[in-house]
Amino acid sequence: MRGLKDKVVLVTGGGGGIGGATCSRFASEGAKVAVFDMNLESAQKVVDGITAAGGNAAAFKCDITNRAEVDAAVAATEAQLGPIDVLVNNAGWDVFKPFVKTVPSEWDKLIAINLTGALHMLHAVLPGMAERKYGRIVNVASDAARGGSSGEAVYSACKGGLVALSKTLAREHARQSITVNVVCPGPTDTALLSGVAEGARDPAKLIEAFRSAIPLGRLGQPDDLANAIVFFGSDDAAFITGQVISVSGGLTMVG
Ligand SMILES: NC(=O)c1ccc[n+]([C@@H]2O[C@H](COP(=O)([O-])OP(=O)(O)OC[C@H]3O[C@@H](n4cnc5c(N)ncnc54)[C@H](O)[C@@H]3O)[C@@H](O)[C@H]2O)c1
Repeated sequence: MRGLKDKVVLVTGGGGGIGGATCSRFASEGAKVAVFDMNLESAQKVVDGITAAGGNAAAFKCDITNRAEVDAAVAATEAQLGPIDVLVNNAGWDVFKPFVKTVPSEWDKLIAINLTGALHMLHAVLPGMAERKYGRIVNVASDAARGGSSGEAVYSACKGGLVALSKTLAREHARQSITVNVVCPGPTDTALLSGVAEGARDPAKLIEAFRSAIPLGRLGQPDDLANAIVFFGSDDAAFITGQVISVSGGLTMVG
């Protein structure tokens, strides 16, 4: 893909399934990748894989719910790799429960990670992009934001918020050549999905229900998502902004 060589790309939750695949894919396109995760060990594993393949990446411990940690890790990234060209807000967390059985402390955690965390990252990174008049932002939401999803009420609300936020920022920053787009995974084979399934009465049955509902007949794999995220981070997507795409094997076809 065009325009990624030597670009500085920051991926939150880069130590996880979709984030790890995304970091590796950006690195294979010649980008310098900052792998952000609150779990430094998993971020370092991703960096080791990239380095072994001849790529350029560095791991940064960063809990995106903590603004001071975000500011420090963004400053460390810019000192080590250079100004940030591409930001991927990918870190996320979910708990699978009917809304009436959830408790406010769970809402607080869901909102902090899935919505406030992205706000912190955007607030820290956008001013530099605006000054340099270049930026690519990709926010990873969910099909739960587009079509709703039983058992994921507050998570869906956060992801829906991320969609609306992205469209607004796309408008506010278009004249600075900053694009903001949203990739919505459907059920994807990662630790997050296994965790969600564990909350169900029969986890294997839930996973099979997801799989059989997907027109293309399989769960998403992290690389399926990385393909779309890297596209929106590249100059091949320079004329696309404020858009939302589902990468779900056709699970949802709304809008
Ligand atoms: N897997 C799915 O089925 C699915 C479906 C829809 C949307 N998504 C979204 O895709 C994104 C990636 O999820 P995944 O499936 O790869 O999950 P994952 O659990 O494999 O990875 C998530 C990563 O985020 C990190 N993280 C969590 N909280 C953090 C915090 N406060 N600060 C920094 N890092 C933090 C975790 O340590 C982990 O490495 C998430 O935003 C998720 O909501 C996933």
